[in-house]
Amino acid sequence: MSAAYLGRVYATWCNASASLTAYYLGAFCLSALVIWRFWRFTLQPALSPHYARRLPYSIPVLGQALSFFRDAEGTMTGGRLHFKNTREPFALTVMGETIYILTSSADVSALYRRTEDLTFDAYITDTMTNMGASIDATRRMWEAPQQRSKAQFANPKNEPLAHLSLTIFQHQLHPGQPMKELEKVLLDRIGEMMSWKRLQKTPKAIVTSGEQTMTVSLLEWTTSVMLTSATEAFFGKALLKIDSDMLDNYSYFDKHSWKLIYKIPPPWSTGMRKARDAVRSTFGNYFSLPVEERNDSCWMVKALEVEMKACGIGPQDIGAYLMSIYWVINGNAWKLAFWMLVHILNDESLLTEVQKEARESVALTDDPSAMVEHLEKSALLLSIWNEALRFCTSAITIRDVARETEIGGKMLKAGARVIVPYKQMLRDPEVFGHDADTFSPRRFLENKQLAKSPSFRPFGGGITYCPGRFLARKEVLLFVGLVMARFDVRKKDPSGPVPRLEEKRPCLGVLSARDGDDLLVSVSQATVS
Ligand code: HEM
Ligand SMILES: *[C@@H]1O[C@H](CO)[C@@H](O)[C@H](O)[C@H]1NC(C)=O
Ligand SMILES: *[C@@H]1O[C@H](CO)[C@@H](O)[C@H](O)[C@H]1NC(C)=O
Repeated sequence: MSAAYLGRVYATWCNASASLTAYYLGAFCLSALVIWRFWRFTLQPALSPHYARRLPYSIPVLGQALSFFRDAEGTMTGGRLHFKNTREPFALTVMGETIYILTSSADVSALYRRTEDLTFDAYITDTMTNMGASIDATRRMWEAPQQRSKAQFANPKNEPLAHLSLTIFQHQLHPGQPMKELEKVLLDRIGEMMSWKRLQKTPKAIVTSGEQTMTVSLLEWTTSVMLTSATEAFFGKALLKIDSDMLDNYSYFDKHSWKLIYKIPPPWSTGMRKARDAVRSTFGNYFSLPVEERNDSCWMVKALEVEMKACGIGPQDIGAYLMSIYWVINGNAWKLAFWMLVHILNDESLLTEVQKEARESVALTDDPSAMVEHLEKSALLLSIWNEALRFCTSAITIRDVARETEIGGKMLKAGARVIVPYKQMLRDPEVFGHDADTFSPRRFLENKQLAKSPSFRPFGGGITYCPGRFLARKEVLLFVGLVMARFDVRKKDPSGPVPRLEEKRPCLGVLSARDGDDLLVSVSQATVS
């Protein structure tokens, strides 16, 4: 027997034993995984049936993270269907964290009432930290209030500023004198900006200019009018004077801000973080100006500054907090106006009808607030407003489980987060009909009860119910009404594509258009017939 032969036998034997080891190891891992999955998703739920069930996943800890970041809405739909579409509460697992998903309107109503067990506090702190406020400022927002001066807002319940601020938003934005004053400034500003002359001086919106007719980007036209007017109505002229790039930087931030909510680290979020820092520093500079130079801001902005100063918070941190308010003020309304116009312009007979109603309303008065009162009486326009809210929002409500609690017959564990993805209800065919996945402008006109359905909650609800919903409707209806009344607007390419909703990216309110999607329109001055 040669040594070479012996060597070959030895090598063969070693190989076999190595692959045998690999085989046993593989088999061991596989059976461990099978046992783990059986325990986690079959045995454990069977032993504690009163807890909300967990959507099965294959990679421990990571859970549904990858699928969630790729397509959050799709993951939640998948979960709902996995549990036979009963709309019972279920749990996702994302990076080791438990997130309960509620998709039934009855469970959402229960969540609104369960304010002690399901709290919003951690989210307020998170948002401040996300905006770059200092830890010290965040701590001061939660401190019990000190002695109060005359300049401060009444605080009978002795709430910390983090909670008092919700009452301050409502005082400014719910119907009443303070809302009337702000509404007048905002609507007058929109009225001024909606002229042929002003449009000619908006180079970003103009694709091809002309004396009689121009080609205009609907996206740029809408943002420039609605963001500028809201920025000036809330904060006065100083903000845009300090930084004329602010709207660009804010828009970039807004578009990528979901990365902040889901804690995507740099380098994948570097651009968003830079834009955020640029905007925040503008807000910091704004609050460093002497008060007299920005006395044209609205009451709420002044009141929040007074309260924060009284807590010992400095201008940079006041800026960071007010930037988060700026973001909720400006994040949604212009997108809704854009989608309403996209759907009106895409339907020749609808366009004719809306145009007629808008022109009649606008012809009655020169005062924008009065125009809106007429526009708000147009049942067709209100139906399109509601349908755009239904079809184009993907709002969420977030709460944290402070104490173990029951919702919809299922227990939720303390320490977990709860998310209400409203789109799951806004597209429910059992409520809105078999065509719930299409935009139907007359849906709310044909069924007047729909707007009152508990499945129709585009503005959220409970303690975080959007306080800006009254003003939002007015500014959006005025903008859409003036586009229809003061201009002749047509799709540039009548058979061209319609902008699509960006439905994959996580979203907090009204959905954006997909990257690169826009509607080019031919615009001329309205011919008065
Ligand atoms: C069509 C436009 C709008 C939509 C769809 C919308 C939707 C929402 C939603 C879903 C929330 C969170 C609700 C929750 O967490 O349960 C919210 C909060 C808020 N919205 Fe709006 N909103 C719009 C316009 C506005 C406007 C124009 C303003 C201000 C004038 C505004 C001010 C606020 C404020 C201050 C909050 C925070 C409330 C809090 O933190 O408790 N919103 N909005
Ligand atoms: C802010 O906007 C300006 C103008 O569009 C741009 O040049 C600049 O790079 C932006 N800055 C950041 C940090 O995004
Ligand atoms: C704002 O301040 C200016 C002086 O800087 C003053 O002339 C004006 O009356 C003030 N306006 C209000 C509304 O207080």
